[in-house]
Amino acid sequence: MNLQIEYYNDGTDFHEIDPLSINPEYLTDFSIYEKLQYKGNQYRFRCLLLDPSSIPKERLMELLRSWKNVYIHEHQAKNYHQYLKDNLSYILNHDEIDISKKTDTLISLSTEVVKESFELNFAKAGCGKKALSNIHQLISQAIEFITDINSLNGIANLIGHDYDTHTHSIKVGWLMATFINANKDLFTPKKDHGFKNLLIQATVAGLLHDIGKIKIPSNILNKNGKLDNLEYIIIQSHTAYSVCLLFDTGISRYASQAILYHHENEDGSGYPTGLASDQIPMIAKICHIADVFDALTSKRSYKESKSPYEALKIMAGNNPYLDTLKKFEKEVSDNVKIPATALVRDDYDIKLRRLREKEMMEEEAKKRVEARTKLRDQGMVHCFDKELLKRFIQTINRSESFELSALL
Ligand SMILES: [Fe+2]
Repeated sequence: MNLQIEYYNDGTDFHEIDPLSINPEYLTDFSIYEKLQYKGNQYRFRCLLLDPSSIPKERLMELLRSWKNVYIHEHQAKNYHQYLKDNLSYILNHDEIDISKKTDTLISLSTEVVKESFELNFAKAGCGKKALSNIHQLISQAIEFITDINSLNGIANLIGHDYDTHTHSIKVGWLMATFINANKDLFTPKKDHGFKNLLIQATVAGLLHDIGKIKIPSNILNKNGKLDNLEYIIIQSHTAYSVCLLFDTGISRYASQAILYHHENEDGSGYPTGLASDQIPMIAKICHIADVFDALTSKRSYKESKSPYEALKIMAGNNPYLDTLKKFEKEVSDNVKIPATALVRDDYDIKLRRLREKEMMEEEAKKRVEARTKLRDQGMVHCFDKELLKRFIQTINRSESFELSALL
């Protein structure tokens, strides 16, 4: 479709873009407009550049620097989107582009790729391989940015937002990559290529660590109250489901280990296998720390988000009520019935009595979950490798957006 040189409208047909995001070295296929006030809520969109590829690179660079806000037409949004995918590393590594714009671009493109994987029919031949290759492609473009300590400022901007499985997965991968890059001495790769590959594999693991949740019925996954034994086991099976789904995709053994064991606790109280301390692969321990940190600092419908300081204080705290906490956890897996006696006067109305009983059970379950969360918040250090957790706090503290010295 041929675009016009000028449009007069309320702006709904146009998208604002950052002129600095345009790579003068790349042959673009979208036109650039400026927005001028016209009448009331109407604007005049005037074409500044019909084809950015048609002018000399130096002139284009000059122009891009002189423009503040530019727009593209809705009809070319797809072209621009493809352009972003192809030029993600250019944008993420551009010194003058604002960190929040970089973060937005990274999150929106990665959400798309992660969502595609989560919605995929893995049973269909070749689908999993294709999804993994798309993820690899994206991570390879983003790896330089996400492994830089300064990129933690981007993560800091996202803290406290509502929990969303896809964004959560991206942040876990991102935190793992930054952590591993800042703690190279923990790893012994043979060559530089080996270390870059390790960073990519760790990020893949973070992005896909919870993919098995697509196999968990949503009424169980999103249940607010107490889980019964079967539901608890079903939820726990997401780690095994994740590796099963990815089994034929060619995912590395390293990433699979992180995914399978990311809920194992240092003291052996985790799942799926109850591994303890040295039995747990280090990559899984790192994934566990990043996972819990992000979960605690995200907002849920039933809980407020914690600040990074509060979250890490809980994670590094010794729990004085550990025995009681473990009893609560055992109660969930043992499926102990909660006594509930219906106090309904009209005993003849069985429906009413059952309804009241159900309500009482739910109230009790809610109270129990709240009590368990309160107990957990007294300290979680038994879940993590203390040395790795200390390094995690040190790493995050290196970014200007976090102030965690009091925890060190
Ligand atoms: Fe998980």
